[in-house]
Amino acid sequence: MEDVIEVRNLKKSFGTNLILGGIDFSLGNGELVGIVGPNGCGKTTFLRILSDIESPDSGKVRISGKVAMIPQDDLLFPWFNVWKNISLGLKFRKVPSKVTENRVKKTADDLGISRYLQSYPSQLSGGTRKKVAIARALVLEPDIILLDEPFAGLDVSSVDNLLDSLMNLKKNGISMVIVSHQIEELFHISDRVYFFSHRPAVVKRIIDLKNTSAEEGKKLIFDLFRGV
Ligand SMILES: Nc1ncnc2c1ncn2[C@@H]1O[C@H](COP(=O)(O)OP(=O)(O)OP(=O)(O)O)[C@@H](O)[C@H]1O
Ligand SMILES: [Mg+2]
Repeated sequence: MEDVIEVRNLKKSFGTNLILGGIDFSLGNGELVGIVGPNGCGKTTFLRILSDIESPDSGKVRISGKVAMIPQDDLLFPWFNVWKNISLGLKFRKVPSKVTENRVKKTADDLGISRYLQSYPSQLSGGTRKKVAIARALVLEPDIILLDEPFAGLDVSSVDNLLDSLMNLKKNGISMVIVSHQIEELFHISDRVYFFSHRPAVVKRIIDLKNTSAEEGKKLIFDLFRGV
């Protein structure tokens, strides 16, 4: 499998604080990789570097394809309805209105949010808002999406629903990196899970879920958390 992300010995400091202490990471084409690690170890910083919002101090970052990041806070515009929130990026890129209309409709349909297109963010549940944020990224037709804590604050049925949508995206060939503290959900959908140590963060362990059961994997993570 060709890697769409390759990271070698990535280091990042803020001031005198070394946050990422030499991360090695890869994401295969069509793969879904999870990242777990203690609070403050630099997971969000890592995603921000992959999406070019932050720059690394040293190391190698190679990315093949278009990346979109879905931050933890969905950052929807409260004064725009769902349709406008999703289509805004296309408008900025001057995509023709017919193309925009088709893409918004299809993406909303794929994520099961078509009935909310005229609603405003304040009228939506947390799970639906999260899907609108994902739709907003997907209409830009990325090859890779990076999700920061997508399950945080969602009830079980919204989580289930979101998991189904993410599995569908995977079937459609989108490569994904998901940072989450929700081990159960992450292990349910990931091909591999990276465990980051306390900062300065390094990769302490990679759990390949093709060879490890989700149960064994979860136990490993709990042991790793006790050890960090
Ligand atoms: N722009 C910045 N300037 C200074 N320090 C920063 C900046 N961004 C992040 N940090 C610091 O870097 C460290 C890592 O932050 P980051 O948000 O990446 O951690 P995290 O692993 O995502 O944590 P959590 O699990 O709580 O989300 C924290 O100490 C944070 O305060
Ligand atoms: Mg974070």
